[in-house]
Amino acid sequence: MCPLVDSYGRKINYLRLSVTDRCNFRCMYCLPEDGIPKVDHHDILSYEELLLLACSVVPLGIEKIRVTGGEPLVRNGIVRFLSDLSKIPGLRQLVLTTNGALLEEMAQRLREAGVQRLNISLDSLRPDTFASITRCGRLEKVLAGIRAAEEAGFPIKINVVAMRGVNDEEIVDFAEWTLEKPYAVRFIEYMPTRGEEIWQSRVISGEAILARIKERFPLQPVVRGEMAGPSRDYKIPGAAGSIGVITPISGHFCEECNRIRVTSQGMAKNCLFADSETDLKPLLREGNVEKLQHFLKRVVIAKPGKHLISYGNNNHAPFDMSRVGG
Ligand code: 5AD
Ligand code: SF4
Repeated sequence: MCPLVDSYGRKINYLRLSVTDRCNFRCMYCLPEDGIPKVDHHDILSYEELLLLACSVVPLGIEKIRVTGGEPLVRNGIVRFLSDLSKIPGLRQLVLTTNGALLEEMAQRLREAGVQRLNISLDSLRPDTFASITRCGRLEKVLAGIRAAEEAGFPIKINVVAMRGVNDEEIVDFAEWTLEKPYAVRFIEYMPTRGEEIWQSRVISGEAILARIKERFPLQPVVRGEMAGPSRDYKIPGAAGSIGVITPISGHFCEECNRIRVTSQGMAKNCLFADSETDLKPLLREGNVEKLQHFLKRVVIAKPGKHLISYGNNNHAPFDMSRVGG
């Protein structure tokens, strides 16, 4: 079967698969304070359907699947599902993005299920700021989860959404954290997903983040590995961990984009900022693998060359990141 290549010649080998839009946090940049309307259970893909999807895309050349949410660990039966996913022949990497709130209890079982790496969202190391960003999260609980993940043997990446006036005072604290902790801390430029007016004033560019760290610590570039994501990585000499910046706003990485997304309702998205989606649910419910693969190829071929979001422009319809999974 010919692999997934888009009309710009990019090889698509990475699927981000959301298994739920529900979350036990309400992060200010992701969800409204009172949450979003509950999706009918029937509209969410069952684990059988999600597995059928995964089994259909791997022969097309998908080598890496990242399971996302909402918060994937709040869905019942997730460990069993991950274990089933990990057994798909040809899948080289199974990774998970989580807010860490349930990791203390679940890390060991996730490891045994075959999850290879974790990305943990953590936007503040200060209890008050953490509580106000997540609106209901407890920092201590997430830190305990991160420790449990480390003890379970996971390589750990920490995602920090950098926001001016919210957590930018902590950029250097996070950098200092990597002296002791063997984590890859990556700062993500804040993206205008929810259509707010003043988003530009929140964004701190990757360059500005690095400049702040360099005022305090020297940084050496880290060589990019195979299947590395969009992060540009550095290390403080002698540190246990590394520091990276992910710059969706100031420096497009669209040219190297290798991913597609599928939401928990079976909507395929070929770009985070694409306004159109392709409904895979009817095909999954029919169990029609050939047609499904054909549709996926069409989604890939229609992948835009780059998104047009920049400091001067936010020309896309607002969307809930909790549906799409980052
Ligand atoms: N801007 C930048 N990053 C975001 N994420 C969610 N919403 C945004 C946004 N508006 C990140 C989360 C998480 C990942 C799934 O996406 O912090 O790490
Ligand atoms: Fe939940 Fe993640 Fe959205 Fe925060 S960013 S509300 S943890 S899905």
